[in-house]
Amino acid sequence: MADATGLEETHILVTAGPTHEPIDPVRYLANRSSGKQGFAIAAALARLGARVTLIAGPVTLDTPEGVTRIDVETALEMQAAVEAALPADAAIMVAAVADWRVEGAGQKIKKGAGGPPVLHLVENPDILAGLARSPLRPRLLIGFAAETEHVIDHATAKRARKQVDWIVANDVSGDVMGGAANTVHIVTANGVESWERMPKDAVAARLAERIAAALR
Ligand code: CTP
Ligand code: CA
Repeated sequence: MADATGLEETHILVTAGPTHEPIDPVRYLANRSSGKQGFAIAAALARLGARVTLIAGPVTLDTPEGVTRIDVETALEMQAAVEAALPADAAIMVAAVADWRVEGAGQKIKKGAGGPPVLHLVENPDILAGLARSPLRPRLLIGFAAETEHVIDHATAKRARKQVDWIVANDVSGDVMGGAANTVHIVTANGVESWERMPKDAVAARLAERIAAALR
């Protein structure tokens, strides 16, 4: 039977993984995100009874049980998939979205007398900030912040700038990206709560309980 802490009747959106931004048809810009933390969060939310839509960049992970997965490659595709999946009661944007894409990626770039190519980058849309301004803004909007220094200060500033409810700040200066454990700080309107380093599955379970309590 459904218990009192459950997420039955809710639809929750999770983004996870990196995005790949083509340089040409055979090359891309990427980052070290493994998708593990986002997939673990999607799994934990589904275990609490939520209907979960997981929008995943290119990762080598199995789809968690009971989760609807939509695979995307680029930031622009991720943005379109997020918009198409609305409305949602909550969104947890764990993806490490590429900040820039290569302008005018065309045919395969050839080596030649001209020397190395110059890549012209343009900024990708901020999917999370866009969602915060949307008429379909989820009731609970959570961003992640991967930082290598001044973790809490940067995360606090990001929370205000993006107008989201919580930022889960992530110190990625160690082996976090790709690793199995995570040290996070939960930044909300009420201040900062630092959690001890724990497995990503444990972070996910604890966060899912928090989300259930907030949506109740
Ligand atoms: N995010 C997003 N779309 C982007 C960039 C980031 O939705 N184009 C989301 C991420 O999924 C994450 C949050 O915004 O939930 C913070 O991402 P982060 O990269 O830490 O923030 P940026 O604003 O890109 O700042 P910077 O990389 O310069 O620290
Ligand atoms: Ca970024």
